[in-house]
Amino acid sequence: MRREHLTAFQQWFSHYVEISHSESPQFHSWIKLKDSHTRRVFEKITRIGSSLKLSEEELLTAGAIGLFHDVGRFRQIKLYGTFNDGRSENHATLGARVLKEYGVLAELPEEESSVIIKAIELHNLRDLPEGLPDRLLLFAHLIRDADKLDILEVFSRYYTRRDDEFATALDSYLPDTPGYSRALVEDLLKNKRCNYSDIKNRNDRKILNLSWVFDINFPYTLSEIFKNGFIDIMIGSLPQSSEIEAIHRLIDDYAAQRLGVLPRS
Ligand SMILES: [Fe+2]
Repeated sequence: MRREHLTAFQQWFSHYVEISHSESPQFHSWIKLKDSHTRRVFEKITRIGSSLKLSEEELLTAGAIGLFHDVGRFRQIKLYGTFNDGRSENHATLGARVLKEYGVLAELPEEESSVIIKAIELHNLRDLPEGLPDRLLLFAHLIRDADKLDILEVFSRYYTRRDDEFATALDSYLPDTPGYSRALVEDLLKNKRCNYSDIKNRNDRKILNLSWVFDINFPYTLSEIFKNGFIDIMIGSLPQSSEIEAIHRLIDDYAAQRLGVLPRS
């Protein structure tokens, strides 16, 4: 892949966002949310890739994956009016379909477009399948880290009320009830993967977001999460209890072990 390809993809993406805009003020703001998320993920995946000293060519591929990983969100809003995959369809496979339909990657060699499409399809799975080829695994790891890093940033900003603009998109479908799901806390404290189906309120979503720390692939990403104080913000927005404290300790210990020293905000 060459720089000109990426430039053409960026132009296509901007145009696609423009034609996706809707009359509805709510959908309009949701589209803006996904547009800005995409642009930040693009920038983050490039930074994570640079921390790994990837080649110029690999950084371009990573950039394309960052740019297109959520392209399905725009059609999801149009068709279903929701970001909830469970109530509509998987936005990653929807995005892969959009890219194929528009022939966006047609200029690339087959191998290259296939790795981009597959990494997009893998970006939102809870668990990656076993036995992925090395190159695909690298890009799947990159996009999963960049996406999680940005989602943690968005929610942290939202919880500290520095950014209220997208409240309806972020909080529209989960009740703001007190307490949290026992199952999520137990899984987390036992070092098990949390189940999305256990999310019943906003606190549960925060706990699930916290559990992502254990699924971060690269030290740079982990260190960014701590440097920016995302964990402390998320923990601080949850009810205070001995369980939440235990989760906080578990996360800090894990990160300190992986990073040596825990970077602080
Ligand atoms: Fe995303």
